[in-house]
Amino acid sequence: MMRDEIVQIDQEALAAQKRFAALVKDHADKPRSYHLVTFGCQMNAHDSETLAGLMEGMGMSQAGTRENADLVLFNTCCIRDNAERKALGNITWLKEIKRERPHMLIGICGCMMQQKGMAETVLRKYPFVDIAFGTGNLYRLPEYLYQVVDEKCRVIDISKEESSIAEGLPILRESPFKAYINIMYGCNNFCSYCIVPYVRGRERSRKAEDILCEAEALVREGVQEITLLGQNVNSYGKAAGEISFPQLLRRLQATGIPRLRFMTSHPKDLSDELIAEYAANTALAPHLHLPVQSGSDRILAAMRRGYGVEDYLDRVKALRQACPDIGLTTDLIVAFPGETESDFEETMQLVARVRYDSAFTFIYSPRAGTQAAGLSGRIDPVTAKARIERLIALQEGISGEILDSLVGQRMGILVEGISARRQSQLSGKCGRSISVNFTGGDERLIGRIVPVNITDRGSNTLRGEY
Ligand code: 5AD
Ligand code: SF4
Repeated sequence: MMRDEIVQIDQEALAAQKRFAALVKDHADKPRSYHLVTFGCQMNAHDSETLAGLMEGMGMSQAGTRENADLVLFNTCCIRDNAERKALGNITWLKEIKRERPHMLIGICGCMMQQKGMAETVLRKYPFVDIAFGTGNLYRLPEYLYQVVDEKCRVIDISKEESSIAEGLPILRESPFKAYINIMYGCNNFCSYCIVPYVRGRERSRKAEDILCEAEALVREGVQEITLLGQNVNSYGKAAGEISFPQLLRRLQATGIPRLRFMTSHPKDLSDELIAEYAANTALAPHLHLPVQSGSDRILAAMRRGYGVEDYLDRVKALRQACPDIGLTTDLIVAFPGETESDFEETMQLVARVRYDSAFTFIYSPRAGTQAAGLSGRIDPVTAKARIERLIALQEGISGEILDSLVGQRMGILVEGISARRQSQLSGKCGRSISVNFTGGDERLIGRIVPVNITDRGSNTLRGEY
């Protein structure tokens, strides 16, 4: 057992941050309002909930717009080039606003900041940025803010603390009935195209007891759905000698949480034990996001995914045996270096065979420092665009057929709010994570899981009656 591999940031360091937070709170020059701009995945969205919790703890409140905030904090993503460009575009635009409101503070954090050389770039190219820090030292925001406010200096700290976990930080959750819980951080897989292992560090799992404690508190508050987060949740606990991921799911079911989800899963680590959990665990929603990336064995090998098409199809078959109404979703990358027309056709065939509820499709984007960035055989943008369009069209057809097949069913919907399109309707999500708009209910249903008869479908939603 290597339990001590779960390295936690010590109590003293966390207490020091609480003292900094109190100093900021009482400081005459502290920012009164904040605005958070979040890019990227759920992991980042959840980090932003922690950042918001920290800022509220320093006596700041959310500003209506970024233009009138005293502190604007960008939580960035660097998974693809366009995510990075979007963040930098937003930050540059704010420079003009800051010219008119010089007291405005601007901060950047998140994955982009963890990249090699990024701190130097920010220092040089974005002199109007006041604070920059990475994902590993997010818990130190109070200290950074204190330095900026008190010493009127810039703070750029990208020091690598990515091997440890900060427990007990305040979290300002976006929804009172849906919550994210981080169960692990980092990734050890090094898929050849992916920057994540470089910016989020090695895999480390939280202690099961900390996760369960958090879940129990959420259940007591009336939360209806918990989504467990990690880059690779299937390998939860492995390096640290913790209980396995399926065992963790079982313990979470026992908290009484009505609905449980998790993401993201790696197909190579999808164990029989986890598949069996879909048949046995009544809290587990019948949905799995299982990124396949490509339908060509040759490309999967070049991506270093650790499985082939047949292995993947075998997992899908077993999942559908354990849980016949499971909805699968996936991620697909087209135009990976060297992808031939026939490799791409194989991806189309795989999509047609698996029949996903929906898919996220991406054009390969080279990331500096990753193995694939050095590969020859780049696909020209015109071909890449044509391929992704064909793939999207195929998936849209399949998604429509699946929606049609669900008409007539009665399903439990977690009601999230009034429908954005029609004020007379409510909207929410079914267990398969498909959006459902329905009539016959009123606001009192918000935050509850209620039975809805599905009567029809829209372009990518279902319609129903309560
Ligand atoms: N280019 C394009 N897509 C990528 N993804 C990860 N890295 C890249 C890249 N360099 C996609 C994968 C992954 C999802 C989160 O983002 O499909 O599953
Ligand atoms: Fe990236 Fe692969 Fe890790 Fe997912 S499993 S975060 S794609 S390296």
